[in-house]
Amino acid sequence: MQMSISTELAQSFDERYAGTPGWDIPGPQSAIVRLAEAGLLSGPILDAGCGTGENTLFCASRGLAVLGFDFSAVAIAKAVRKAEERKSPARFLVYDACRLPVPGEQQFSTAIDTGLFHVFSDNARVKFVNGLRQSLKIGGIYYMLCFSELEPGDWGPRRISQKEIRSSFSGGWAVISIDESHFDTVERPEPVKAWLASVRRES
Ligand SMILES: C[S@@+](CC[C@H](N)C(=O)[O-])C[C@H]1O[C@@H](n2cnc3c(N)ncnc32)[C@H](O)[C@@H]1O
Repeated sequence: MQMSISTELAQSFDERYAGTPGWDIPGPQSAIVRLAEAGLLSGPILDAGCGTGENTLFCASRGLAVLGFDFSAVAIAKAVRKAEERKSPARFLVYDACRLPVPGEQQFSTAIDTGLFHVFSDNARVKFVNGLRQSLKIGGIYYMLCFSELEPGDWGPRRISQKEIRSSFSGGWAVISIDESHFDTVERPEPVKAWLASVRRES
């Protein structure tokens, strides 16, 4: 039986999540904590490619309505277990980011993404951006943390330039800011260079 690219990719992430992948830190990314502390996260929130759910659970712990989804069933099973252990109201779903919007869900005020956008092929990126736009209310904000081209070497995911971010979000969106930021990981002692993009749905 021939598998679709997404299914093969989801299986490869499932395999990574059988252990602890390098990006799967035991708490929220500090970039997300800073956004919350600045009062920039408003619910309902969609956490796209939420992995084992730390950012989603963090948002829920601040009283925000939040749905985390990921196409890795193994990651979502871990996230659901954490939510039960922490008695968190966070919701989780196995879903493909290239098939947004999620059927039956309301539009979101905010979307967050730490490490999903830089996984996409060029084609998947276009599908995701179109579906994401439909998933957000007009005026809703997408906060995206991705590997930047300033990170040296060729380990890890593809690097993303500011120009690529601006061209992905050119129709119906306004790029508010793209700031230097970083990923915290369990595999590197030093922070990994990232862009934190804030993009608003305009129409
Ligand atoms: C680098 S990990 C980041 C996970 C999480 N956001 C975090 O910060 O720990 C990228 C995540 O994107 C998920 N992913 C990749 N492509 C996806 C797709 N098409 N739909 C849903 N999730 C996807 C992977 O399963 C993985 O959990």
